[in-house]
Amino acid sequence: MRAPKTVFACTNCGAQAPKWLGRCPDCGAWNTFAEEAAAPPMPAGGARPSLGAAGGQARLYADVDMVQAERISTGIGEFDRVLGGGLVPGSLVLLGGEPGIGKSTLLLQAAAEFAQRTGPVLYCSGEESEHQVKGRGERLGVGNAPLYLLAETCTERILEEVQRLRPALLIVDSIQTVYSTKLTSAPGTVGQIRETATQLLFAAKGQNLPTVLVGHVTKDGGLAGPKVLEHVVDTVLYFEGERHHTHRVIRAVKNRFGAVSELGVFEMTGTGLQPVANPSALFLAERQVGAPGSAVLCCMEGSRPILVEVQALVSSSVYGSARRMTNGVDQQRLALLLAVLEKRAGLNLAGEDVFVNVAGGFTVEERAADLGIVAAVVSSLRNRAVRPGTAIFGEVGLAGEVRATGQSLLRVREAAQMGFTRCVVPSGNVGPDDAGAGCEVVGVRTVAEALDEVIGWD
Ligand code: TYD
Ligand code: MG
Repeated sequence: MRAPKTVFACTNCGAQAPKWLGRCPDCGAWNTFAEEAAAPPMPAGGARPSLGAAGGQARLYADVDMVQAERISTGIGEFDRVLGGGLVPGSLVLLGGEPGIGKSTLLLQAAAEFAQRTGPVLYCSGEESEHQVKGRGERLGVGNAPLYLLAETCTERILEEVQRLRPALLIVDSIQTVYSTKLTSAPGTVGQIRETATQLLFAAKGQNLPTVLVGHVTKDGGLAGPKVLEHVVDTVLYFEGERHHTHRVIRAVKNRFGAVSELGVFEMTGTGLQPVANPSALFLAERQVGAPGSAVLCCMEGSRPILVEVQALVSSSVYGSARRMTNGVDQQRLALLLAVLEKRAGLNLAGEDVFVNVAGGFTVEERAADLGIVAAVVSSLRNRAVRPGTAIFGEVGLAGEVRATGQSLLRVREAAQMGFTRCVVPSGNVGPDDAGAGCEVVGVRTVAEALDEVIGWD
């Protein structure tokens, strides 16, 4: 008898090779190749059921009915927000995040709420026993909801239970721990993840069952397992946050049923994750008003404006080359902004160490953060506080010009709501509607003008 055919697959990206390789030629990861059984060829006529309604036949665009995706609330407002308004029946959602960030906690809370409101929920855990899950549930105050727990790692068994219980929501914690009996390779390997995800996909679509999968992340923060996993699912969410801070943020990076870049903000407490309705208040909570080197900037996260504090510390460098360190801001962006300050505002920063930090462990990716960073840096350099009650935003160009950004009015309103009396914004964003925003809006054209308005430097 011939030995069963095997291939070597990269556990990081899913690339395959006929022999073992030390380094994956596709993604460059080291020591990630594992041997697994080659997928058997598709038997004739054994194709998977199709997702379409017309039995595999193409239909004319005009004949396809428009179905407004129905939304089912998970019972947790912030979770619904990142999902684009709730769970869509038959959708497959992947929730990734570092160990201990709170994935299982959130899903257990959502499962309990969902079971109370909508119908039975099947929570399958491949990582913890029913007792462990129950122990957590007691802390979270899970009541008498029709919530079923199953400590199982075999996909076929999970799908049997789905047939038996007919739940309204299926949760699989985590996709890396479940396996299919169709393959001989270990759980977590590329083949297994691909196979189990596909089986769950067809169960979800076939029975209109919303399904949430938990995914592990790699050292670099990407989702572990083959990229194909992210293609298969409808929605990919990332759970982020710093271990030493209590707040947690969920971001959507892919959503077939809604906008990405929406954000859900939670706080981890002794009784589970609590939604944070007003993130600005959370991120500004410990701000020292009137301290030099601190500026409040207004950034957009999806459709929601959030005020965050940027802190900078500029001090003379004792080493040959000055250090630039950032937390929550792109380091390259800081280098660029410092170069603009040197060239266009005549500041001398070459001999200064510059440290920039976004308070509360928050990360700002938006270009509109530029003016906030610049203001904090110059405020620290001059040792002069930003004018009281002033918030700021705007993109800085290489010529030292301040460029307009989107959603200006929303940002200004949020600042006004949080008690700020003045907003320094790009002049391109000043419009007639600003009058009703509730705070003074000052338009600036260049970095130098902005610094004049914010710090009053000379
Ligand atoms: P968990 O949901 O197990 O993380 P994951 O599934 O992402 O690995 O989160 C566990 C962490 O959350 C753990 O460090 C303890 C903390 N925690 C609380 O602070 N309060 C709570 O009510 C619960 C249930 C957990
Ligand atoms: Mg977990």
